[in-house]
Amino acid sequence: MKIFIDSANVREIKEAAGLGVIDGVTTNPTLIARENKPAKAILEEICSLVSGPVSAEVISLESRKICEEARQLSKIAKNIVIKVPLVKEGLKAVQILSQEGIRTNVTLCFSLPQAILAAKSGASYVSPFIGRLDDITACGISLISEIKTVFRNYGFKTEIIVASIRNPLHVADAAKIGADIATIPFAVIEQLIRHPLTDIGIARFLEDYKKIPQK
Ligand code: E4P
Repeated sequence: MKIFIDSANVREIKEAAGLGVIDGVTTNPTLIARENKPAKAILEEICSLVSGPVSAEVISLESRKICEEARQLSKIAKNIVIKVPLVKEGLKAVQILSQEGIRTNVTLCFSLPQAILAAKSGASYVSPFIGRLDDITACGISLISEIKTVFRNYGFKTEIIVASIRNPLHVADAAKIGADIATIPFAVIEQLIRHPLTDIGIARFLEDYKKIPQK
């Protein structure tokens, strides 16, 4: 499973990239708004740090305007992927953009039929939001399993980005299902690393090391 960082914060992205486990980045308007800088400047900096796909979201809701915005965003860097919301006009735009060779990430996916339509429209990626489904007592991870099965059944090439991840269990479950990508907030990446038994083990080894005669 590929790991993307779900962040627009350059410090977080640099630190995560330094771990050597990050394959790409996803941003959204909420994440960009937290940075208090123009979106273009943030995206340029992120793309200079990461060679993998960097998702940048359009804000237009009409297919012609989505395409125009997408073409502008694509000029920022070769690794920009255009995030398009899963609405009728969005699907129309994805079809046009895919014919132009512009990669798309269809976002705000909450159901299997929506994911099927994203794949049929030619999306490079689809992002089902599992945490937000869990929030309304629908099982987010079950949706990933259903999408994986159907994409396999029909040989759809669209990659599944498990999004709205809230905890390490979400990541483990996504990997068990065989999701292509998990996009993970920085705080959860840090949680993935830590285990109390690792800390206890290190403390014990260091204590025991002190007992070793030096000569
Ligand atoms: C995905 O690409 C989105 O940026 C993100 O995962 C949304 O997560 P949230 O539900 O925690 O806002």
